[in-house]
Amino acid sequence: MEQHIQDTELKGKIALVTGGTKGIGKAIANKLAQAGAQVIITARNSPAEINSGHHFIAADLSKAEDVSRVAKEVADQFGGVDILINNMGANTFPGGGFATLSDEDWDQALQINLLSSVRLDRALLPEMLKKKRGVIIHISSTSGQFPIWESTMAYSAAKAALNAYSKSLATEVSSQGLRVITVSPGLNKTEAMTTFLEDLAKKAGITLEEMTNNLFARVGGVPIGRMADPEETAELVRFLVSPKASYITGANYAIDGGNFPIV
Ligand SMILES: NC(=O)c1ccc[n+]([C@@H]2O[C@H](COP(=O)([O-])OP(=O)(O)OC[C@H]3O[C@@H](n4cnc5c(N)ncnc54)[C@H](OP(=O)(O)O)[C@@H]3O)[C@@H](O)[C@H]2O)c1
Repeated sequence: MEQHIQDTELKGKIALVTGGTKGIGKAIANKLAQAGAQVIITARNSPAEINSGHHFIAADLSKAEDVSRVAKEVADQFGGVDILINNMGANTFPGGGFATLSDEDWDQALQINLLSSVRLDRALLPEMLKKKRGVIIHISSTSGQFPIWESTMAYSAAKAALNAYSKSLATEVSSQGLRVITVSPGLNKTEAMTTFLEDLAKKAGITLEEMTNNLFARVGGVPIGRMADPEETAELVRFLVSPKASYITGANYAIDGGNFPIV
């Protein structure tokens, strides 16, 4: 009986998950669909396997024109969204500190990790405000509060900006029936994370396992002793978008295996 209630919790809701074809976004898209939502996903490339029932839109959300196209398709075909998960983001910029990062790298870091969300929110918010309901989640990163200069300088700065923007937006719209929440994952075992670690290991001339241990040490340790499965991060998001989280807005939730050494 309990299972039945959970499975219909988001019935009738339209959810858009950016970057919903891989990693954390894919896990979120599947969880929201399991809870009964109609799910729309975006990515630059078609998913390797066709996810049952998800509506896929190909788009590069680091480009303003693609964001507009996604918003138009969502409005025309679905009449807008009830749940917007701004998940797409990436740390694909050179490591090595300030001197390695060009203007172009900084611009890309901001386009991908901040402005994609700002633009998509701006396009979809008017309809949500009209309906006086909706939830927006910004998938940030613990790196936004815990930058590692050698490897996440531009990415961390962009995620920190996303955190500040998300908080401002929550303060602006929460009296009008909307909720805006930031989720800051720690280390998740996704393709992006594996590629990131493989690159670092190659540069340092060490094994992937040694690099993984180095990364754990660099971030100050992960008390739980492992990376998160994206499913675990997706479960938090599923709760936050549900009616059970009706009093939650403007907060930034870390889901990091106990990594942050602060109370
Ligand atoms: N993995 C972690 O440990 C971790 C930790 C903290 C925060 N995060 C955050 O969690 C989010 C998801 O990360 P992930 O590790 O799950 O990433 P991932 O496995 O690389 O998946 C990224 C998704 O976004 C899409 N994407 C990438 N660039 C895009 C672009 N320019 N336009 C549209 N779609 C694009 C990808 O598909 P295409 O390549 O086909 O476009 C894919 O669907 C990101 O915001 C990341 O910063 C991840």
